[in-house]
Amino acid sequence: MCGIVGYLGTKDAFPILIKGLHRLEYRGYDSAGVALVDNNGNLNVYKTKGKVANLENYCKDKDISGCVGIAHTRWATHGEPSDVNAHPHFSQSKNIALIHNGIIENYLTLKKFLISKGYEFRSETDTEVLVQLIEFMMKEHKLSLYDAVYQALTQVVGAYAIGVIEKGNPDLLITARTSSPLIVGLGEGEYFLGSDASPIVEYTKNVIYPEDRQVIKIERGKEIEIRSLDNEDLIKPEVKEIELSLDDIEKGGFPHFMLKEIFEQPKSLALCMNGRVQKEQKEIILSGVRDHIEKFAKARRILITACGTSWHAGLIGKYLFETLCRIPVEVEVASEFRYRNPVIFSDDILIAISQSGETADTLAAMELAKAQGAFIYGVCNVVGSSVARLTDSGTYTHAGPEIGVASTKAFTTQVCVLTMTALAVAKELKTISEEEYKRIVTELCHIEEKIGKILEKTSEIESMSKIFTYARNFLYLGRGFNYPVAMEGALKLKEISYIHAEGYPAAEMKHGPIALIDEEMPIIVVAPRYALYNKILSNVQEVKARKGRIIAIVTEGDTEIKKQADCVIEIPETEECLSPLLTVIPLQLLSYYIAIAKGKDVDQPRNLAKSVTVE
Ligand code: F6R
Repeated sequence: MCGIVGYLGTKDAFPILIKGLHRLEYRGYDSAGVALVDNNGNLNVYKTKGKVANLENYCKDKDISGCVGIAHTRWATHGEPSDVNAHPHFSQSKNIALIHNGIIENYLTLKKFLISKGYEFRSETDTEVLVQLIEFMMKEHKLSLYDAVYQALTQVVGAYAIGVIEKGNPDLLITARTSSPLIVGLGEGEYFLGSDASPIVEYTKNVIYPEDRQVIKIERGKEIEIRSLDNEDLIKPEVKEIELSLDDIEKGGFPHFMLKEIFEQPKSLALCMNGRVQKEQKEIILSGVRDHIEKFAKARRILITACGTSWHAGLIGKYLFETLCRIPVEVEVASEFRYRNPVIFSDDILIAISQSGETADTLAAMELAKAQGAFIYGVCNVVGSSVARLTDSGTYTHAGPEIGVASTKAFTTQVCVLTMTALAVAKELKTISEEEYKRIVTELCHIEEKIGKILEKTSEIESMSKIFTYARNFLYLGRGFNYPVAMEGALKLKEISYIHAEGYPAAEMKHGPIALIDEEMPIIVVAPRYALYNKILSNVQEVKARKGRIIAIVTEGDTEIKKQADCVIEIPETEECLSPLLTVIPLQLLSYYIAIAKGKDVDQPRNLAKSVTVE
């Protein structure tokens, strides 16, 4: 939610900030803005509703000089998307400008207090309260900007990553974070801020990942200064190297990040399995499981929590752990779990799944389970993220940066990690035979090449997509391991094409959704050939009897469902527990091409943002 960028150095800040905003635009694109202090000390703020491109246009005839600046791309929470609610926000005197990603939870109390002191508010945002409070601290207590930011933050409850600059001071940039992501890049005589590494990687690989409640002073020609809100001692920065490369965050010849990321799946799965799946020995070595195997052995139950697509991966996790490990599993969306006063035992394992590692509800659910003594195992993509930091153990998905707002490669790598985890646990607990274990591991090694084969059908799927752009509703049906895939397919379509779609367990269709079926209604049936094949064939016949139009995802060589379906996409044969890794690929492509045919912005669909750091 919202992206922040900052720069202090010797170059013109504006182009660096704008490029950074473009790279962070996946985090929100309701409005964008920039603040710069020029060499004469003037503080200029420019901001507009809409995307970063609008801001660039708006700034064409403006004074954009200055070697220090901050910039923001917004996903609206408090206050509608508008010019006035766009960041940066000015303080009362217009001497301070501030950008913010997060939510100031006690903003109403602070606002009331500031109004009583004569402060007037221009926007409806929570953020404006913070910049006004900083100015109040400066004036009331005669503090420097850094000390005022520090003192103001001691009064704030909520989540924030901020950047602050002031009029008359082209040599100073202040930043701080709590519960919102922030990276500080260290170049030669220059510093960068970013909500992730993408605005920074082009300039330097050396970064600091500030901890929660740290406030940082970046001053030209001086050492960076970090203090915690809990203790005023200076903290020595720990410099780390970012692994991201520029290629990872560019489109690489694809028209959209989403398509690039769909096509990256063989590679991202290979990276996910690298060093973990040993082809020759047919073994899985996961240190996150091996080092804590007694927790899995003694687990009364596994609880899985996540949101959106990651929750769908979690639903597949239930089938995996129950089938392979015989451990009972409950899966719940984090926003319900956290407020439900769930029964959690100290011998439960909570598996939290998150691409970004910053989803507020997932983090809260983890904290709740941790407080009640459960062992926390994380499945996360972003290294060093808040989810990763909260876990007792876990396994990174190593999908690489996912920039398209609709999750694709994050999903398949999450399913892959859950599969590897379940297999590693099953082997230790001896809940599957050695033969079955080796057979599934061998098959897992062929998954990349099988996804490659499905990707070869892209133009076939593209043509098929054109037939269905008329539809206003879609139904997705699946059973067993592929029921969550049906839900994921429906979510992908909704997100990027704005067509209503529902994912349903195929047999459950008779208990309601069948009423929707007529000759207009496309029904996507995920029907690879496994134990329930005949059952799903009956479901297909029920749909056909009501003149529904069927698009079926079937195993290569299928004859029965082919006879019934209007369109068929074949996938290679594999183990049933691995089939979601294949069946989801055509659904991703179909959604992508339907959205393209309808002229939608697939990488930045309306109202969405990549990481949901607010509840
Ligand atoms: C869907 C999508 C979202 C996310 C959800 C959780 O395409 O991307 O539904 O899956 O917001 O995000 P993470 O995995 O970052 O916790």
